Amino acid sequence: QETQAPGARWRIGVIGGSGIYDLSVLDDVQEIAVQSPFGASSGPVTLGRIGGQEFVFLARHGAGHRISPEAINHRANIDVMKRCGVTDLVAISAIGSLREELAPGSFVAVDQFIDRTHGRPQSFFGEGLVAHVSLADPVCARLSGLLADAAQAAGASVHRGGCYLAMQGPQFSTRAESRLYRQWGADVIGMTAMPEARLAREAELPYALIGMVTDYDAWRDGDHVDVAQVLSVMRGNAATAKATVVALAGLLPQLRTPSPIDRALDGAIMTAPAQRD
Ligand code: ADE
Repeated sequence: QETQAPGARWRIGVIGGSGIYDLSVLDDVQEIAVQSPFGASSGPVTLGRIGGQEFVFLARHGAGHRISPEAINHRANIDVMKRCGVTDLVAISAIGSLREELAPGSFVAVDQFIDRTHGRPQSFFGEGLVAHVSLADPVCARLSGLLADAAQAAGASVHRGGCYLAMQGPQFSTRAESRLYRQWGADVIGMTAMPEARLAREAELPYALIGMVTDYDAWRDGDHVDVAQVLSVMRGNAATAKATVVALAGLLPQLRTPSPIDRALDGAIMTAPAQRD
């Protein structure tokens, strides 16, 4: 008689951005506040499941959208996800489009970042323990592919691949900045994926981001972005975002084979063993 080889289970963390403040598609939910040595996370996490698949949800901006992009405690958020036993981390974010073909309403599975944020704690390391992880490929291709498949199954128009310009905010970009970012090769723009993606890698969490395009930012003559526009597109997309998570639960292979990102810190620590705090 054949016995199934033991394998690890998935536990998917979901960080919801603007417009995604709960995951009503989860069953058996339990809300818990998790303490972190890095301070307060954006709020309590919701543990739940879809079928046999476990999820851990966190609203990035807090309930009622109280936390501005530059004030998000990404270290605490990632630490809390890790403490909840999350194996892989999915971010769902509102983004602006820097390309004509990435129309509002469409979804983008981001695979690169340019980080223009500043003054945000962006590492778990330093002060006695120095590490340099690779960020050459900041997104987990396996998770991103599954997420893009899930969004497509949920009925979204999905673009696979795209460079996300992380801006500081909270103001939107000037028209000149928006045009500069296009010249740099950025495809979409947002305020929150950095340093989240960096910290996920340091925490050895495979990370993927699906962006929901809400606007064309400011690069087009006469056009500009405002919150009303972002919110109205987000309201239309929130159901598709949640359906994406349901579809993801159905697409995950039953057993999770290891990812190289599970061991991102192997060989990344510079500090001599005898000198480590
Ligand atoms: N989030 C949604 N649209 C955005 C834009 N145009 N710039 C920055 N963040 C955004």
